[in-house]
Amino acid sequence: MVLQQAARAHPSSAAFLPRALAPRYGPWLCRRHKSGPYGYTQAKALVYSKYGEPSDVLSLHTHSISPSLPSSALLLRTLASPINPADINQIQGVYPVKPPFTSLLGTSAPSAVGGNEGCFEVVSVGSAIKSVTKGDWVIMKNTGFGTWRTHTLAEEKDILKIGNKEGLTPIQVGTVSVNPCTAYRMLKDFEKMSEGDWFIQNGANSGVGRAAIQLGRQWGLKSINIIRDRPDAAATLAMKNELLGLGATKVVTESELMDQSFKEKVNEWTSGGRELIKVGLNCVGGKPTSALIKHLSPSGHLITYGGMSKQPLSLPVSALIFKDIKFSGYWVSRWSDAHPDDKKRTVDEILEMTRKGTFKDIPVQELRWDWGTEETTLKKAVQGTLSGFRAGKGVFVYGDT
Ligand SMILES: NC(=O)c1ccc[n+]([C@@H]2O[C@H](COP(=O)([O-])OP(=O)(O)OC[C@H]3O[C@@H](n4cnc5c(N)ncnc54)[C@H](OP(=O)(O)O)[C@@H]3O)[C@@H](O)[C@H]2O)c1
Repeated sequence: MVLQQAARAHPSSAAFLPRALAPRYGPWLCRRHKSGPYGYTQAKALVYSKYGEPSDVLSLHTHSISPSLPSSALLLRTLASPINPADINQIQGVYPVKPPFTSLLGTSAPSAVGGNEGCFEVVSVGSAIKSVTKGDWVIMKNTGFGTWRTHTLAEEKDILKIGNKEGLTPIQVGTVSVNPCTAYRMLKDFEKMSEGDWFIQNGANSGVGRAAIQLGRQWGLKSINIIRDRPDAAATLAMKNELLGLGATKVVTESELMDQSFKEKVNEWTSGGRELIKVGLNCVGGKPTSALIKHLSPSGHLITYGGMSKQPLSLPVSALIFKDIKFSGYWVSRWSDAHPDDKKRTVDEILEMTRKGTFKDIPVQELRWDWGTEETTLKKAVQGTLSGFRAGKGVFVYGDT
């Protein structure tokens, strides 16, 4: 197997970018590779050898990548990799995709690398590789690869090439394949939605929620967006305005949703129910979702893709019997494994919208990962991901690694 053959590193380079170009491409290009003796690439990875809380089980492991690159291997360096809620669940051992613990990186106990999404630059390629060349950007084709690492070896089957990286940042590319694709497919693949139709969603300020708002607006869909009440009224208003600015039609808090008067409001917005709320998107569960279901039109469809409140979903019986509401689950990993070509098309389409400025970035908290960044700093960033009311998604941005 390629990865077991300890592949060859790229030639040691100290490629510094002209200062004038630095502001646009930030830390990604203004850096050098750590290169050890005999051309070995020095790499670091956040690994775990047993399941548990990230702060307990993650450790930062340093290893070398040998200069003898097998013909079918690629050496990649990571430019950006986000910390998604599912990454934490994976480390906790409660996510269905469980990367095998292996000894490939030479950890004292067999380990897996955290993270599932990211943007990588091709540093060098084996002689048999034809589809990518040095300098190309790639993302991972499937979940479970392990993306919280400074460098990695991969094979062609692991990667999707970004056809045109012009005008894009590594964060945009490194966060496209999970959340935007999830929103896109949920709005397209379950019900035929036409201009003027509505959808209703909770977790509306999440990465998926923001993507759904923006895609929905471009496709002429109207949306009712539910957010959690913020600690104070000003913060709630600011969040509402932010989502309205992205193209949300209506934004309400969970307490407004639970209020008796909400039914009337929805009736008014949808012209007495003549405009249909065909789809509900749920990543929360619990009581707020039971309340959301009541606003779906007859034969509407609730699609559950997450359970952030950790509360089970309880379904009103009448929704099934009298309104014939359908209930489905969605998992982007299942879709991308089954439809790799569709994944490429969806990613390309969203990146094109991003390039044109019609699909805005999610708010992010950039967490710079340099060679000297301490293990505790990286672990803290990961552990903090599941706490609510965050200013943005944590994304590792690789600097001087
Ligand atoms: N099934 C799939 O294929 C798929 C794909 C992508 C994502 N997901 C899931 O979708 C969800 C959102 O992911 P993301 O990456 O878009 O999220 P994100 O950008 O990291 O945002 C997290 C969201 O969860 C909300 N939240 C956090 N704790 C909560 C709680 N206790 N109760 C209710 N809401 C809470 C946050 O609301 P506040 O701002 O109010 O804290 C925020 O809206 C996650 O469950 C993730 O696993 C599933």
